[in-house]
Amino acid sequence: MTPLFSLSELILESSFINGVWQDASDGKRFDVVNPATGERLASVPHLMRSDVHLAVDAAVTAFPGWRDKLAEERAGLLKKWHRLILDHTEELALLMTMEQGKPLKESRGEIAYAASFVEWFAEEARRSYGDVIPTHMAGKRILALKQPVGVVAAITPWNFPAAMITRKVAPALAVGCTVLVKPSELTPLTALALAKLSEIAGIPPGVFNVLTTKDPEAFGSAVMEREDVRKISFTGSTRVGKILLRQAADSVKRVSLELGGNAPFIVFNDAHLESAVEGAIASKYRNAGQTCVCSNRIFVQSGIYEPFLKLYTQAVERLSVGPGDQEDSDIGPLINAAALDKVKSLIQKAVADGAKIVCGGGGHERGGTFFEPTILTDVQDSMAISKDEIFGPVSTLHTFESEDEVIERANNTPYGLASYFYTQDLARSWRVSEKLDFGIVGINTGLISTTVAPFGGMKESGLGREGSKYGIEEYLETKYVCVGGL
Ligand code: SIN
Repeated sequence: MTPLFSLSELILESSFINGVWQDASDGKRFDVVNPATGERLASVPHLMRSDVHLAVDAAVTAFPGWRDKLAEERAGLLKKWHRLILDHTEELALLMTMEQGKPLKESRGEIAYAASFVEWFAEEARRSYGDVIPTHMAGKRILALKQPVGVVAAITPWNFPAAMITRKVAPALAVGCTVLVKPSELTPLTALALAKLSEIAGIPPGVFNVLTTKDPEAFGSAVMEREDVRKISFTGSTRVGKILLRQAADSVKRVSLELGGNAPFIVFNDAHLESAVEGAIASKYRNAGQTCVCSNRIFVQSGIYEPFLKLYTQAVERLSVGPGDQEDSDIGPLINAAALDKVKSLIQKAVADGAKIVCGGGGHERGGTFFEPTILTDVQDSMAISKDEIFGPVSTLHTFESEDEVIERANNTPYGLASYFYTQDLARSWRVSEKLDFGIVGINTGLISTTVAPFGGMKESGLGREGSKYGIEEYLETKYVCVGGL
């Protein structure tokens, strides 16, 4: 279908609250910049605490009307939104690349991924069944009803400016919750464009609100102090997730957290070499290494180490670094100077402690926040680069001898989001996948993200699951109804 809006018409410079495009009440604004060029793209409102409270009031007021619609009516509106997102794939993808930096081919993929959550949960809206439970007593009947939790506040990250919004908002809206989204201050434009399309789809005022501010803590504490916000969903760092979890305790809000990772990528001697290399590239260098599921530690068994290193190095050296809007770019810029400094410092420390640079290792000749695709060998588990989430295009290679050894080393982290391994041995596939303490295990694949599977972490990587039939449960209460006197 022909898109309704051009790219410039989708660059919106107001927050979307209660169906109205609004400025901050004190008029303050902040700039959004293109990480590839440093150029200013737009400015958006820097909302005050009092603005956040007014938005919560709007979501609270809109809740009963939205909850009481038929599931089919909510599904119909979500399907229109889904169609509009797909019709604007090219415009949204360009906008995302402009504010986030990822290559256009990845932005197009993310728009399809983001839209797929809206479609999936529109379908699931009609299937949030409860139960009739066999009774324990004559004259009584026992029911379990599924009802929406209420008003939801969602705080979303810059690395997936569209998909991390729809992965939370679509299930919430599908079951009848109303939502306030605070997108990252680095990438609010994609979020506002999604809000525009939701408005055109006919989602009623107050049901889906997008609040821009460069002070995430102010937004967080404003929604936390409201007892009528019943659920917080956050994707971001483990440090911030822990703060939100503590704050949510005061009014016992439900909390979903999708936090940091430290993914092991294990290549056993019996792996298919070419597939393992391809999987490692896909897992490590997607979004310039800036995803929570990027492999962070590549463990290669000693018998396959040399051929793996040779092929992997050739593949990494072929990756092309450049602005995301150049069709042949594989790796865009890092999001900002702080991200660049962090990656540089992790490499410097690792090298000082004995790691060796096989390729890359520093800022790219393009300057700015472009970084060379890098491989380090001789990396020890005790180094900071093995313990921290790198969030950059840097592979660290470790060797191992036995299955038991690598499982123990892979699990030796507070994180537990994604993990990957390559083997052609069926028995090993079962053994290792059961022993890895991670919420997601990819066997013979480096790409595990899909709408239809439960995404989420164990240990300090988070609480709850997103996507799939499990993802909708996060937005539902189970109410027990006991009918007596029959
Ligand atoms: C993330 O990095 O937080 C999400 C990645 C994904 O959905 O694939």
